[in-house]
Amino acid sequence: MKLTLHVWRQADAKSRGKFVAYEAADVSPDMSFLEMLDVVNEGLVKKGEDPIAFDHDCREGICGTCSVVINGSPHGPLGGVTACQLHMRKFQDGDSITCEPWRAAAFPVVKDLVVDRSAFDRIIAAGGFVSAPTGSAPDGNAIPVPKEDAELAMDAAACIGCGACVAACPNASASLFVSAKVAHLALLPQGQPERLTRVLSMVAQMDAEGFGHCTNHGECEAACPKRISVENIARMNRDWMKAQLVKGRRPAQAGDGAAG
Ligand code: SF4
Ligand code: FES
Repeated sequence: MKLTLHVWRQADAKSRGKFVAYEAADVSPDMSFLEMLDVVNEGLVKKGEDPIAFDHDCREGICGTCSVVINGSPHGPLGGVTACQLHMRKFQDGDSITCEPWRAAAFPVVKDLVVDRSAFDRIIAAGGFVSAPTGSAPDGNAIPVPKEDAELAMDAAACIGCGACVAACPNASASLFVSAKVAHLALLPQGQPERLTRVLSMVAQMDAEGFGHCTNHGECEAACPKRISVENIARMNRDWMKAQLVKGRRPAQAGDGAAG
């Protein structure tokens, strides 16, 4: 296959970026999208040019780092897969393909296709954990969990923190990501003691990071490579409202700030 790539090149967050066209020749249909970029970069390095910076790690759909908008869609045109799982056989010989970074104020461009998603790390640090010592692995049946709750919790826990939901949302809202992290703990017995402080803290941090608000477009769910459901946003909103109602009945805690 022979393709024309239009790749966003940007030296850093403060520089102006622009699209630069590259010819990608001898592309095998069996290559992944990232392997195709590797081949283009080998050619650039041989010519003494700066290779295209892009993020990647596992290349098997579990780490969430391969944040590329391909032809206008986060992770590309195929639903339910990450960019590293997208194969070139999904494109036609002679195609033109645009590659851009996630576009969101809370995800500043580091270089080219690489963005800084440490805002997600700070949201997790604000409350995406259970603080009680858990000891060694308990017996499987020691804490009964209704099957439906276990299934919903595991579905929410499938979120890989890639940020495609933010990139797809017209408001650059992080609600799908935050709600997945809130819901997977809120649905399990171990998550109950900190359930209300957690949702307040994580939503407050989401707001502090400059993400937009959810206005129910649903683009996040459509772009999510792990098919995280927007039902989690409804769960998070219900918990947040309940936390607002009861928080005056207990001492103020860290993280109760901006969202309250
Ligand atoms: S909710 Fe989906 S799109 Fe958003 S960070 Fe998690 S896996 Fe990525
Ligand atoms: S490189 Fe890990 S999910 Fe794509």
